[in-house]
Amino acid sequence: MKVTPLRALTAAALLALAGQASAATCETTVESNDQMKYNTAEITVDKSCKKFTVHLKHVGKMPKTAMGHNWVLAKTADMQAVNADGIKAGAAAGYLVKDDARVIAHTKMLGGGESDSVTFDTAKLKAGEDYSFFCSFPGHAGLMKGKLKF
Ligand code: CO
Repeated sequence: MKVTPLRALTAAALLALAGQASAATCETTVESNDQMKYNTAEITVDKSCKKFTVHLKHVGKMPKTAMGHNWVLAKTADMQAVNADGIKAGAAAGYLVKDDARVIAHTKMLGGGESDSVTFDTAKLKAGEDYSFFCSFPGHAGLMKGKLKF
């Protein structure tokens, strides 16, 4: 079969796309909304990533005081205590204890239309450990939570 220049170009483009797909993506975007939901329940961090970035977007319209959302990463075993202590720390603290050693990474608390990003060192993660992310706004973690796989 004769390969036309156009067909050869398409094959090259497909190979380039395949190459991009196989390379690790060391970042992800998580959306949160006025329905008290994230748009993802699981994030996978590739072991080839030295650092990983989470971009959190609040795509709703409600203010931070009524429908605040952040993205907090901790061991699943620590999640409940981090959340309970954060709620005690209050709104001014973003519902997190300042410099909580149990928190691996967190964004700031957002209101509708806002966004924030956090980059963390994957050296803080251990293979086989059970990690969860959640929103520390009072009453949100029941619905706003997911697993982070490493
Ligand atoms: Co929230």
